[in-house]
Amino acid sequence: MFTMEERVMTKVFDYKSLDELKNQGEGKYFYIHTYGCQMNEEDSEKLSGMLKRLGYTRTEEKTEAEIILFNTCCVRENAENKVFGNLGQLKALKAKNPDLIVGICGCMMQQEGMADKILKQFPYVNIIFGTHNAYKFPEYLNRVKTEGVQIKEIFNKEEEIVEGLPVDRKSDVKAFVTIMYGCNNFCTYCIVPYVRGRERSRKPEDILKEIKELVANGYKEITLLGQNVNSYGKGLENEVSFAELLRMINEIDGLERVRFMTSHPKDLNDDVIKAIKECGKLCEQIHLPVQSGSNRILKKMNRHYTREYYLLVLNKIKREIPDVALTTDIIVGFPGETEEDFIDTLELVKEVKYDAAFTFIYSRRNNTPADMMLDQVNDEDKHNRFNRLVEAVNSNVIAQNKAYEGKIVEVLVEGTSKNDESKLSGRTRNGRLVNFAAEGVKVGDIVNVTITKAQNFSLIGEVCK
Ligand code: 5AD
Ligand code: SF4
Repeated sequence: MFTMEERVMTKVFDYKSLDELKNQGEGKYFYIHTYGCQMNEEDSEKLSGMLKRLGYTRTEEKTEAEIILFNTCCVRENAENKVFGNLGQLKALKAKNPDLIVGICGCMMQQEGMADKILKQFPYVNIIFGTHNAYKFPEYLNRVKTEGVQIKEIFNKEEEIVEGLPVDRKSDVKAFVTIMYGCNNFCTYCIVPYVRGRERSRKPEDILKEIKELVANGYKEITLLGQNVNSYGKGLENEVSFAELLRMINEIDGLERVRFMTSHPKDLNDDVIKAIKECGKLCEQIHLPVQSGSNRILKKMNRHYTREYYLLVLNKIKREIPDVALTTDIIVGFPGETEEDFIDTLELVKEVKYDAAFTFIYSRRNNTPADMMLDQVNDEDKHNRFNRLVEAVNSNVIAQNKAYEGKIVEVLVEGTSKNDESKLSGRTRNGRLVNFAAEGVKVGDIVNVTITKAQNFSLIGEVCK
């Protein structure tokens, strides 16, 4: 019997032993560029895991790579433009090194006509695949190397979830664990349901097994991922709710912290709020995208909640979970958004006082209902509103950080600080970034830190002796 990992990894090599496969990439390097969200990050960790299983080594230098892979995003136009720009730059590298294998995969490839457009513009691309068949990457790679063919394979429909792929994780302390794939919501601006397919959940036993293995390998924190985690479990043979899954995960010995994203306001129920309140490992942090503060726009977006309902949910969360951090996503310039609609959003932001907000300018996505709306907002208004929104969000974040001065917080040490190598950095339970001197502390520790100074978007502290 082969495990799933062995089946995937050996499928193309006539089930030769994994030991033999290990030499495939010996002494050779691969480079992966990931665009977009955490789901893509996690997919890339699997692509990287598969390549490492074949003996390849990861590099951050394109020039020394034998394989260059772009895992793409298409949620907004600027993400796509970056891919086109970066693909163009590979022409020179390919000319220098004809053996270079260029692969391109991910959400962008699931759009109709995109793969052909790319092949026309960049004929030197060797492998194109989509979001549903990433597990076949080693097979494609082998065919390119042994048969010299160009591969374009994109599945239009989602397949069964492939379990057991090797994962090469970026951190040794915290890990992403995808619990469900796809989305059924069809917000009118969003392309995700078209490129990621319908919702399907992983079995709880597979999720628990993965997390237990992570904990056995020293991981302290996991973030559960899904486009709409609150509808986890629907359609499983034995249906399990998201709140039930959270409670099962909370029982895992040795695990310290659990986060999750993304929640949909229409589906985040009392059971989940109660689970966060009662389960010690669930962090006091909820990402709840509001998208707009105007009921008229929310309706056009097909979000299925009103501003009043959203605030009701949020106030319940604040009441039940002290010290909770609330974060959100907001789009400005959705078709038909007037100055009054935008003021509704701005006022909501000021009222909620978010701990962080990811703000986006509406981007037209092909074949989505919003793209066909006739009342598109002009660029000047979009940018003007965007700047005003960012200012409102930031001034609040800065004020909130200031209030942390003098407080003691619990920090999980994640690594060295980005700006100062002599310092370590980590996060509080509710997600704030803290930098502090490394004395007597190592990555993976959980320590109490006194906040000595608030920066605009992070905190500086000293470890309590
Ligand atoms: N334009 C701008 N932002 C978008 N998002 C999704 N689709 C679009 C679009 N067409 C944003 C939403 C979502 C986040 C991941 O990306 O705010 O929550
Ligand atoms: Fe897109 Fe809406 Fe699904 Fe989120 S819930 S992925 S915004 S369609």
